[in-house]
Amino acid sequence: MDWVRLELDVDAFDEARFAPYLQACQVAGIEFTTLAELGDTTEHRRELWALNRTCSADIPDRGEFYTLEQYVAERIETPSFDPSGVALAIDGDGWVGMATTSLHPTRGFAFSEMTGVLPSHRGRGLSLALKLLAVRFTRSRDLHWLRTFHHPRNVSAIAMNRRLGFVDEDPHRWPS
Ligand SMILES: CC(C)(COP(=O)(O)OP(=O)(O)OC[C@H]1O[C@@H](n2cnc3c(N)ncnc32)[C@H](O)[C@@H]1OP(=O)(O)O)[C@@H](O)C(=O)NCCC(=O)NCCS
Repeated sequence: MDWVRLELDVDAFDEARFAPYLQACQVAGIEFTTLAELGDTTEHRRELWALNRTCSADIPDRGEFYTLEQYVAERIETPSFDPSGVALAIDGDGWVGMATTSLHPTRGFAFSEMTGVLPSHRGRGLSLALKLLAVRFTRSRDLHWLRTFHHPRNVSAIAMNRRLGFVDEDPHRWPS
């Protein structure tokens, strides 16, 4: 797979350009929180898995999603996971959007694992608001780069990240 590999210099990120999206979503009644604030409980892990599974159905060639047990083992109970890095958008009682960021301090970056918004809530700037929170989280952990990989046919996700200022990765910065 020829992944589209993108990077964002979070020190150069222009927060003022994107804060209005967060405010507009809040005015429209969306609440923003994190898994850490809500509590990293069994019930909330299941809710996160269900939201991630629904949103992932729209990732090209995603294939079958993890079972809850696999998700917890591979995506949550790992050293790079931090519940403060799970930004959530809530509408009423329902979780409608997520942006998860893992931490890789020894390699000098945070990684944007999954950004997803339910189809019912797309096209309103929710992903931009969630990614703004992901950038703030990255800064709060004293990391300066946010990276992400996308399937080349995931047009909306690639456009969303480029809109935020992500650019094609410099391969020399991230030797494998
Ligand atoms: C990608 C996704 C998160 C975008 O969420 P969203 O809340 O609808 O996006 P926003 O309304 O915040 O739009 C932000 C920008 O993304 C881009 N974008 C969003 N949807 C798009 C689409 N269907 N086609 C092209 N560009 C799109 C645009 O640049 C848009 O900014 P603009 O409208 O000002 O030009 C959402 O479509 C989704 O959940 N997709 C499935 C899951 C996925 O593929 N996640 C990424 C893999 S980790």
